[in-house]
Amino acid sequence: MTTDAHEVDRGRRAFLVGVCGLAAVGMGSALLADDASAATGIVRKKNGQVEVSVKKVPGLGQVGSSVLLGNVKGVPTAVIRTGPNTYSALNLKCTHQGVTVERTGDAWNCPAHGSQFAFAGGLERGPAKSPLASVRSTFNARKGVLTVG
Ligand code: FES
Repeated sequence: MTTDAHEVDRGRRAFLVGVCGLAAVGMGSALLADDASAATGIVRKKNGQVEVSVKKVPGLGQVGSSVLLGNVKGVPTAVIRTGPNTYSALNLKCTHQGVTVERTGDAWNCPAHGSQFAFAGGLERGPAKSPLASVRSTFNARKGVLTVG
């Protein structure tokens, strides 16, 4: 853990990581609460950015997988693995009225009015009229770290 990472209750973190590990095995993606992040290769920095050590996160083990980061600078965010060594971050706010979308299979679905978005955020079905937005991210391939936010 870096010195600028938030201190987290270790007992709670261990519980959440265990739950998330089960979710990753069962669904092919991990659902991570904010407080679980540091133990799984995800570190929330004091400036609000989140650093994801992609090889340490089981939920990003294969192309097409995703990990929820919780809110990054106030935006519900997921990291998606789009290729063998490519990752990006999605803003999970539905572009219709802002409800947080949920992953179902290879798509993101909005529980409010039924909009559907492709894995990488493209619009598949309205009433939304535009794709999910990206969240700024940069990938340091040498370190294997995606910085989000
Ligand atoms: S807020 Fe998502 S479809 Fe309306």
